[in-house]
Amino acid sequence: EPRREIGDREDREWFVSAPGKVILFGEHAVVHGVTAIAASVDLRCYGVASPRHDNKLSLHLMDIGNYYKEWDLDDLPWDAVSLVLPGKQHPEVLDQKLVDAINTRALPLADEMPPKAHGAAQAFLYLYMMLAHGDERPALNFVVRSTLPIGAGLGSSASYSVCVATALLLLNHRITMPPLPPRTRQPGAPGDPGHLHVSHHGRRAIPPATAEEVNRWAFVAEKVLHGNPSGVDNSVAVYGGALAYTRPGFGKKSGMDPIQGFKSLRFLLVDSGVPRNTKQLVAGVAAKKLEQPEIVNKILDDIQTISDEARRALADPELSRGSLLSALSALIDENHAHLVSLGVSHESLESIRTSTGAEPYRLSTKLTGAGGGGCAVTLVPDDFHDSHLQALVSALEAKKFQSYLTAVGGSGLGILSPY
Ligand code: MEV
Repeated sequence: EPRREIGDREDREWFVSAPGKVILFGEHAVVHGVTAIAASVDLRCYGVASPRHDNKLSLHLMDIGNYYKEWDLDDLPWDAVSLVLPGKQHPEVLDQKLVDAINTRALPLADEMPPKAHGAAQAFLYLYMMLAHGDERPALNFVVRSTLPIGAGLGSSASYSVCVATALLLLNHRITMPPLPPRTRQPGAPGDPGHLHVSHHGRRAIPPATAEEVNRWAFVAEKVLHGNPSGVDNSVAVYGGALAYTRPGFGKKSGMDPIQGFKSLRFLLVDSGVPRNTKQLVAGVAAKKLEQPEIVNKILDDIQTISDEARRALADPELSRGSLLSALSALIDENHAHLVSLGVSHESLESIRTSTGAEPYRLSTKLTGAGGGGCAVTLVPDDFHDSHLQALVSALEAKKFQSYLTAVGGSGLGILSPY
């Protein structure tokens, strides 16, 4: 019998995690080619993927009504995938026609599934089938837990998509991670300096090509969930930090630029608790652009200027902290006004703005993400007194709004293998 090493694929569990995001400037406009400034938040989605030894595939979403579903691999509509994806398994081939086919094709999903779980499960299954199709079809369990409020504009779906894509790519051997350093060195073992015990917890640096591949597939899941996403949410979930993101296809320099020297900032994220539908809100802005192109194009140009100014200010080593914070506050108010004109604010968000802008706080707040409910983001200056913060949070709570104080710009995708 060949000896099985710990860490053989059969025994391996992969832990993956990815952060949510806050869009500081440029949401919605980013869908139409304007630059968005976004940063990761310290709330994350976590997933554990482990191989199974039967012919089944399971998804356990612990945050959406503790949803659990198991599929028999033979029952999945593999032929549907081969119809729309002949011989190709790379995300570049996924055009809108394919995404539409994915969204309309019936899946063997349970009727009792909550609507949010439905989308997540659908994206999971289709990614699974595309990645596995024509190859081995590994049976696996995938368990997800998230500290992000779901459907609140903080990128919960993108961080979920990144976790799913990473887990599936790892289990299907589509991406590999560099080998781990030796687990523990025994004192006196050859090569051991004698005093050093190196133990590790399986942390590995993620190779750039791996991050890129994950990001491409996570964008596929985002398309299945959201129709016409810009790609900013999944990019932040993969790369973390703060970045300026411009969607390709608009005849200008596109892609993702990390903001160098990004200074740590504190934000209060306030969840209105009002559910909304990103897909509909994005489609609503597109419709407005068709109806009133001059007005909307002017707003988009103004938002581009806001993003450019914010990016310059955030990366400017000469700018004093006070000047940076007041520049950002002014830009936040301006950007919010444009989002109101685009029709994506909501009375709950205006009410949050009223509370945070009132004396003695006088803080600047804008909606973040898709709007129509979801979250607002308030810049909290360094010298903002704790007692004020407490009072503000209580005032918001009295209006049934939940708040999270968060630092932004932390790490992106994390992969951990215990072996
Ligand atoms: C959603 O978090 C941000 C939007 O700009 C949509 C997108 O960029 O995909 C509203």
